[in-house]
Amino acid sequence: MIHRHLISTSISSSSPSAFLGQDHLCNLRRRIVLHRVKKSWICKCSAKPSADKTAYKTKVSRNENMGKLQAGYLFPEIKRRRAAHMLKFPDAQVISLGIGDITEPIPEVIASAMAKRSKSLATIKGYSGYGAEQGEKLLRATIASTFYANLGIGEHDVFISDGAKNDISRLQVLFGSDVTVAVQDPSYPAYVDSGVIMGQTGRYQNNVGYGNIEYMKCSPDNDFFPDLSSVSRADVIFFCSPNNPTGSAASRNQLTQLVQFAKDNGSIIIYDSAYALYMSDDSPKSIFEIPGAKEVAIEISSFSKYAGFTGVRLGWTVVPKELQFSDGFPVAKDFNRIVCTCFNGASNIAQAGGLACLSPEGLEAMQEVIGFYKENTHIIIETFKSLGFNVYGGKNAPYVWVHFPGQNSWDLFEEILEKTHVVTIPGSGFGPGGEGFIRVSAFGHRANVLEACKRFKELYK
Ligand SMILES: Cc1ncc(COP(=O)(O)O)c(C=O)c1O
Repeated sequence: MIHRHLISTSISSSSPSAFLGQDHLCNLRRRIVLHRVKKSWICKCSAKPSADKTAYKTKVSRNENMGKLQAGYLFPEIKRRRAAHMLKFPDAQVISLGIGDITEPIPEVIASAMAKRSKSLATIKGYSGYGAEQGEKLLRATIASTFYANLGIGEHDVFISDGAKNDISRLQVLFGSDVTVAVQDPSYPAYVDSGVIMGQTGRYQNNVGYGNIEYMKCSPDNDFFPDLSSVSRADVIFFCSPNNPTGSAASRNQLTQLVQFAKDNGSIIIYDSAYALYMSDDSPKSIFEIPGAKEVAIEISSFSKYAGFTGVRLGWTVVPKELQFSDGFPVAKDFNRIVCTCFNGASNIAQAGGLACLSPEGLEAMQEVIGFYKENTHIIIETFKSLGFNVYGGKNAPYVWVHFPGQNSWDLFEEILEKTHVVTIPGSGFGPGGEGFIRVSAFGHRANVLEACKRFKELYK
């Protein structure tokens, strides 16, 4: 019985390796191995070349856009390398400051609201099935009044989602394969990868990126804001502020330039504000703080990094009624059609949690959790600064962007993992402009962050 439990736990935790497809792990057969580690038995998944090759092939051709994608999606690739490292060093205490997943529990006031909604589903009176695809009216209205008060955004402009990443893909479906896309370089990989899958891009070229994507360089040299005078026109501009991975936030003046650039070119900005509540300075928390933005921008956001909802799954997208396609058709009407077709609404339990997040107690509890991660950020920044590195980000986002000029990011990632057993993220995983950087996430238990920093100090002293 105990063994069965251990086996299923182990398989699910190491499963990402099974989905990598493109590399040498393809067609490997998983083998369950029991390892004696310290005093307890743990079960690990090892990979072994498959003896039995499948002879049968269907007549369905592979989507050629899938073939353009480089390796696996970044974060599962990191998980795979971490799992391989743990097999190599079964006794190592591996610390993850990598993929940016939340580590602290969901505040009680929020979790108990979800528990209450969950329990009420067991009653005739409290049961509810499919809800509105756009989300519950009260949550839409509360998001509008909490985050967009006085910005002219109302309940009907807000669409509740099961997370920002999911809406990035739904927005890509909305725009289709014929649009041209610009992204900050480096940026959160879902923007580019979903565009590749949609067929918006050409093939990948080493150190350059995918053809037909406008990479807007963001580096210390330009204060992590692109030189718009050298950016070619694109239909859709993905812009994330505070930015993952660089941790920088665009100022009001910079965002005003961006909105003007979109207006001059007739482009639509997809503004990702998933980290807005981490902002310490007075940079705008929403693109709609910029006059005229409602005519050129969509905003996506998420409860994931505010309330520990990475597993609960809840976010939102604002599509203002003022935003129109070239033929005058409202973008929100088409997005509504996409949502009704591709989505059946966010979980009603998660939405109860979202409402609790926005109650006065919930807002306070979220600020406390965010404050905890900001202290972690400070510890990491000070560590790398004390070692003489140029360190960016951290002030407005839970990510620290450390510069290792002239070095290869994946080599750095491997070296840090091998020598300190700390998982980071190689900057180049976020685009060619991330080469020579490492992203260190501040999401971690305090003891782990302190221990990781101690190990960084030993490695780089
Ligand atoms: C910039 C950015 N946008 C979106 C997401 C995804 O958020 P969600 O969990 O709501 O899908 C992340 C997650 O790390 C992110 O960093």
